[in-house]
Amino acid sequence: AKPKNLAGVSVVITAGPTWEHFDPVRLLTNPSTGSVGIALAKELSARGAQVTVVHGPGVSTVKWPGIRYVATESARDMLDAVAALMPAADVLIGAAAVSDFRPVHPASQKMPKSALEQAWLMEANPDIMAEMGRLYHDSKILIGFAAETHNVVASALAKAERKRLHAIVANAVGKGLGFGEGEYQAAILRGGDVDGTLEPMTKERLAEKVAELVTDLHTARRI
Ligand code: C5P
Repeated sequence: AKPKNLAGVSVVITAGPTWEHFDPVRLLTNPSTGSVGIALAKELSARGAQVTVVHGPGVSTVKWPGIRYVATESARDMLDAVAALMPAADVLIGAAAVSDFRPVHPASQKMPKSALEQAWLMEANPDIMAEMGRLYHDSKILIGFAAETHNVVASALAKAERKRLHAIVANAVGKGLGFGEGEYQAAILRGGDVDGTLEPMTKERLAEKVAELVTDLHTARRI
């Protein structure tokens, strides 16, 4: 059995992709399956945390004692759900692959092909972790993820700083790497950890390491 050292700690985890519709049958998304977020949820709840997973479409949720699920679709839905949960949370882990952009003029009916070229105009989505960093850097523990194809560690650290996160999991993505059942390579970085190196690990092992990090950060907060 796992040590129950996260008993009474409330954790929100974002997981999976978001969908940004052009019209009812076409959308902008990415290959995230949410499996890392789900592995984290299981591990943290096994250690006694109260976990809520705010997930995007297509994530296979498992019934598990101590895990609640909130289903969302777009980045804006996900932001609303997270914002509503944060006042009662101690920890936020951003494992979702949030779409950076959305179509400016989504159509309520299927567009004819001739109209599609005109439909590509995009606008930026809100950055959920950056928004929560701005509001909660001093009162909650915030852990992000950064999926990168190159300069993995340096890019991840820059994101953690810009979004005001306390730690970030850098992971390498590419062909057969990072998404779904693919191989996983990650480094867990706390502020100023410039010498982090990527290590191959299973998503379950990553979840154990993140659980240990959450325990450390949470214990440090209480002292
Ligand atoms: O997309 P990016 O590499 O900047 O993502 C880094 C972190 O920010 C991840 O934890 C991701 O879940 C989060 N993010 C977010 N909202 C966005 C984009 C990213 O919460 N719109």
